[in-house]
Amino acid sequence: MDILAVAQQAAIASYPWIGKGKKNDADGAGTEAMRNRMNLIDMDGTIVIGEGEMDEAPMLYINERLGTGKGPKVDIAVDPVEGTTFLSKGQENSLTVVAVSAKGSLLHAPDMYMKKLAVGPKAKGHINIQASLTENMKSVAKALGKDLTELTVMIQDRPRHNYLIKQVFDVGARVKLFPDGDVTGAIATAIEELEVDILVGIGGAPEGVIAATALKCLGGDFQGQLVPQNKEEFDRCLRMGLSNPKRVFTLNEIVRTDECFFVATGITDGMLLKGVRKKDNGLMVSHSFLTGKGISERYQLIEANHSLIR
Ligand code: FBP
Repeated sequence: MDILAVAQQAAIASYPWIGKGKKNDADGAGTEAMRNRMNLIDMDGTIVIGEGEMDEAPMLYINERLGTGKGPKVDIAVDPVEGTTFLSKGQENSLTVVAVSAKGSLLHAPDMYMKKLAVGPKAKGHINIQASLTENMKSVAKALGKDLTELTVMIQDRPRHNYLIKQVFDVGARVKLFPDGDVTGAIATAIEELEVDILVGIGGAPEGVIAATALKCLGGDFQGQLVPQNKEEFDRCLRMGLSNPKRVFTLNEIVRTDECFFVATGITDGMLLKGVRKKDNGLMVSHSFLTGKGISERYQLIEANHSLIR
């Protein structure tokens, strides 16, 4: 519940910046609220994935210690505003996301691009990021008992993904393109009502580890492969202890435990969650998604009223 409160407070703190064109201010507000609330929790937490240099945002930086230092030792991966650009433009699908897991269990991924392939529980064990998307679609369709033409593949709308989109069209399957926010896309594969079967493409590695944690909790599957853009990024991986930066990471290598937990709170409305609302009486309303250790169902959706904004 403490981690839920962290996500809720960060989302509420970002709310005033929706549609104001100032993505760093939104990120800064979410980050500060997250840091302040985390530091009230009895835990000895270490940020293993924070914001990064990629967008020069105000960071919860890697190796930052959070919590009172008294409780359990945990790894923390956060994105106070996943989708800063579309939040600043008043668009849909921005979220606050927090993943917590047993200490030393999350991949220490540098802030660079990662190729990702994600599916829900029924297709677990039926993906191979080294094979073509066409082969993966065939394998996933078989696992799901669907015809290829019934498959929906979520892909971030970027020119670098045109070859993937073509493969989807070529087999007669359906694409669901999205402008930003691939954590939502990955989680969507594990929520049947959202009718997404596969998420594929290149996005941020931090978002990849966070999405992998959510999928581990939800019983889905995920594979990732870092995509260093130059020698400097490649060397950075080596310095972080990744001896073969271009290797494939399976879900169990990215999240090396079942002792994990994920929460997302909507900032703007999106396919997974409604955004923060302010009622006439001043109450703030938030909508969150929780999954993982200690959550009685596979996941829970929580709508909360907040009387005080701290
Ligand atoms: P931010 O939270 O940093 O705004 O990232 C949004 C996002 O769409 C991620 O979900 C995705 O992994 C990444 O950006 C893709 O990067 P790019 O915008 O460079 O294609």
